[in-house]
Parts: sequence; C-alpha cells; structure tokens
Amino acid sequence: MLSITDIWPLFGIKVTSPNLVMRIVRDEDIPGIAEAALAGIHDPATMPFSVPWTDEPREQMIKNMAKHQWKLRTTVRPDHWTLNFVILLDGVPIGTQSIGAKLFSLTKSVSSGSWLTANHQGKGYGKEMRAAILLFAFDYLGAEVAESGAAAWNEPSLGVSRSLGYRANGLKRVVGRPGQLTHMQELRLAAEDFARPTWNIAVEGFEAARNEVLLPAP
Ligand SMILES: CC(C)(COP(=O)(O)OP(=O)(O)OC[C@H]1O[C@@H](n2cnc3c(N)ncnc32)[C@H](O)[C@@H]1OP(=O)(O)O)[C@@H](O)C(=O)NCCC(=O)NCCS
Repeated sequence: MLSITDIWPLFGIKVTSPNLVMRIVRDEDIPGIAEAALAGIHDPATMPFSVPWTDEPREQMIKNMAKHQWKLRTTVRPDHWTLNFVILLDGVPIGTQSIGAKLFSLTKSVSSGSWLTANHQGKGYGKEMRAAILLFAFDYLGAEVAESGAAAWNEPSLGVSRSLGYRANGLKRVVGRPGQLTHMQELRLAAEDFARPTWNIAVEGFEAARNEVLLPAP
C-alpha cells in the first residue's frame, strides 16, 4: 500500500540535532504548531516578522498559519521552494524553521526564517535549529550562501546569526505592521564562513526527496 511519503517524498525528510528533531510540516503537526504560536511568540508591543501574522485575532491567526503551510507545500517545485520544518522537542512542536530558494541551481543561495514559542526561547534552541538547517543546506543541498534578516532591534535573532558567522549585508526598510517602518538588518553567510557546531546532524529521507527540490545534475 502507498504511504503519504511515497506520494510526497518531502514528508520523509527528518533532520536530527542534539536536542531537536525537524520534519517538513505535516497536517498532523499543524495543531501543535498552532498551540505553540497561541502560547505566545513575542511581545505584542513589537513585531519581529515582516509579515505581521501574529497580529491577527487568535482563530484567524491559526487558520492563516495552516493556509500558509498548505501554500508552501503546493508551491514547491525543483529549483524553487520554501521548506518549512516543524521543530520538535521531545516530540512536541515548539516552533518552525524554514529555508527557501529561487533558481537554486544558479544562485546556490538559501534564505531562512524561524520562530520559537516564548517559553523555549533563550535556551540555545534557536541557534541549534538554524545551525542544523545550515548544515542541511550546505552539506546536503549544496548551498554556497545563506541569507537572513532581522529587525535591527531583534537581538536574539541577530545573536543567532552573529554566533554562526553571518556578516551584516546592509539595512533594508520594510513595512511590517501597516504604516509602520521597520529597519531590517540583512545578513549573509558564505559556506566557508560558517562557524560549524561541534556536533553534526543526522538526516533521513533526503535521497528519496532530492529530485523534489534539486534539478538533475547536467
Ligand atoms: C529568534 C529566535 C528564534 C532565537 O532563538 P533563541 O532560542 O531565543 O536564541 P538562542 O538561545 O539560541 O540564542 C542564540 C544566540 O543569541 C544570543 N542571544 C539570545 N538572546 C539575546 C539577547 N536578548 N541579546 C543578545 N544576544 C542574545 C545568545 O547569547 C546566543 O549567542 P551565543 O551562542 O553566542 O551565546 C527566538 O528568540 C524567537 O523565536 N523569537 C521570536 C520570533 C522571532 O524574532 N523570529 C525571528 C524573526 S527574524
């Protein structure tokens, strides 16, 4: 009998780091991700995201979050994708980590975004999940550059980037909340500058999913 992973091989990717397990978001993960988001991600006085999705009323926020997961899934094609991973701590979703690329075969560049539920922030998990996704991007996908960005005031996010070797790559003006200007610190990490962690990731399911995201070698 066919399994969902036979039909959608990306669901088979599993990245394990010392404390965390990362899997491409499945429908069964969505309620747990919603709970992690509803428990609170950031001080409502500020907005760390360039799309202010956490400002929506609770019911709408989790509905939109689910729609976002489904949209990401349906827009994956080789060379052009955003992969969103649920972050599991002892099997429980505590946040998400994404990497995305456009024309990856040419750019060899990925961008990333992440969040953790508030009571799991500041414990090193943000750094661990970004390091894990960078190991996956550089060592499995063959990325040469990783980009990121954070509001110029977002010290925890900038701290993660700084500690992994990213360098400042300019300031960008974006409008996050309607009518509200945010200065985004752009960041860039070349593979050779990556401050690699002392540990490595274990990856399952990548070979079966390779052709979903990478173009065949010429
Ligand atoms: C951004 C986020 C994912 C970071 O994860 P985290 O688990 O809180 O961060 P960590 O505990 O892994 O800290 C990583 C690094 O940043 C540093 N750091 C964390 N908080 C900091 C702060 N308030 N000020 C300065 N440095 C800080 C840590 O010291 C650590 O660096 P080190 O390894 O050199 O000591 C998390 O805080 C979060 O979800 N925030 C809300 C949503 C958000 O801002 N998402 C990102 C949008 S761009």
